Amino acid sequence: MERELILIADFGGQYNQLIARRVREEHVYCEVVPFQKLLAKAKVTKPKGIIFTGGPASVYEEGAPKVEKEVFSLGIPVLGICYGHQLTAHLLGGEVVSPDFKEYGKVKINIDGGLLFKGIKSEDICWMSHRDYVRQLPPGFRTLAFTDKCPVAAMADENRKIYGVQFHPEVEHTPFGRALLRNFLFDICGCKGDWTMDNIAASLIKELKQKSAGKRVLCALSGGVDSSVTAVLANKAIGDNLICVFVDHGLLRKNEGDEIEKMFKRDYHINMVRVNAGERFLNALKGVRDPEEKRKIIGREFISVFEQESLKLGQIDYLLQGTIYPDVIESGAGQASVIKSHHNVGGLPKNMKFGLLEPLRLLFKDEVRALGLEIGLPKSLVWRQPFPGPGLAVRCLGEVREDKLKIIRDSDAILREEISKNGLEDKIWQYFTFLPNIKSVGVMGDERTYFHTVGIRAVTSVDAMTCDWAKIPYDVLDKISSRIVSEVEGVNRVIYDVTSKPPATIEWE
Ligand code: XMP
Repeated sequence: MERELILIADFGGQYNQLIARRVREEHVYCEVVPFQKLLAKAKVTKPKGIIFTGGPASVYEEGAPKVEKEVFSLGIPVLGICYGHQLTAHLLGGEVVSPDFKEYGKVKINIDGGLLFKGIKSEDICWMSHRDYVRQLPPGFRTLAFTDKCPVAAMADENRKIYGVQFHPEVEHTPFGRALLRNFLFDICGCKGDWTMDNIAASLIKELKQKSAGKRVLCALSGGVDSSVTAVLANKAIGDNLICVFVDHGLLRKNEGDEIEKMFKRDYHINMVRVNAGERFLNALKGVRDPEEKRKIIGREFISVFEQESLKLGQIDYLLQGTIYPDVIESGAGQASVIKSHHNVGGLPKNMKFGLLEPLRLLFKDEVRALGLEIGLPKSLVWRQPFPGPGLAVRCLGEVREDKLKIIRDSDAILREEISKNGLEDKIWQYFTFLPNIKSVGVMGDERTYFHTVGIRAVTSVDAMTCDWAKIPYDVLDKISSRIVSEVEGVNRVIYDVTSKPPATIEWE
């Protein structure tokens, strides 16, 4: 499909995915590329615009990430954000300085017009997070906005369509941020915004058909939104040549394995094989306490179970996976530092014997959901709460053992039941219990106990990139806590995680 493109050069900032999200929300397709690859990629793909992200470096640092100056001569509009703004100034002959103070948080900004600020008030609030700032403009630029501490909060060379903003338009704390990005995309880059779901579904099915014509494809089905959408999409494209293998790694929630098997076999008539590999995964995880190691082991075991299955199934040419864009970016394909290696990417061994098909690889979660609805999946599945590939292993801190997993499964089932009974399902993005691997002293009846603590994590979020802890009413928490300690053997204490992301993450590992 011929489509308009915005390239986002990744300089390692933590909000980089958010920039891409914001662009896509305007129905403009964009891709995040490592800064080193920007120039080459821009020359080949001829994007409508380029955005430089923020990043932790200072332009004067040795080895600071940079792009070739040639990027500015391609005739493609550029918007630099935060570090991207400083880099633009630095490369084009302005002056960036490092003061001994920081500007952080919501800051009043004075705006002096320009196309980038079309329709935006002359005084507003923006979100700042920086130390270095642009003191002197590069030749040909003018200042579009300033704050008390930052003389060049926004700048432009309007003739060459090169812009820079020191603040972060992509975060909610900059109320006019979306309007600014829209101005950049539509007024400055001339985008039309024609990235829509029906287009995407049709082109993904066509692409899958072309790639896999006459080939046999093995799909890793987990029952989660991503792999379900992938499987149903592929079923439309590939039909009988698709074989879904559901590896029950024994790290699923209570009764989940049976429910998944029933749904795909009965409702979707998908060619599905269930492999019960719980023991194998537990053996591989024996004694392992490090979260990254757990993820890698689970990824590796997954692939090797698939390889074994494929031998039983005859010739298999492709492995189809539900990898989505945040997995790709968070695993370091962009520049942002690796927070957690998602098992479906980071764990892939180098000697893998299949080709890979990842049709959702460039889609964000809400795009995957919209795609799911577009191809006819029910709302209940499309809005199923996210569940990590490594399953309960990353909610079982320390060694993963069956006795600990049972506590998680049973307490999690109680939590889900109570959330549902109290009509809170739609209000909370994700909720689960975890085992922090702490035992503490308690008293039950007249007896001293030394039992496990169960943690509850419940968060509100739009895209899992940031979250807030959910304000579950006290009486509901009370009921959940009482039920867990009385119904789940080996537990005498329940705690509630009241941390947002950042600084925490949603999962504990
Ligand atoms: P974090 O813990 O990084 O999680 O804030 C963000 C979202 O991703 C889910 N998650 C995973 N999903 N494979 C997945 O498919 C994984 O390895 C994985 N780890 C975390 C997590 O449940 C949350 O929704």
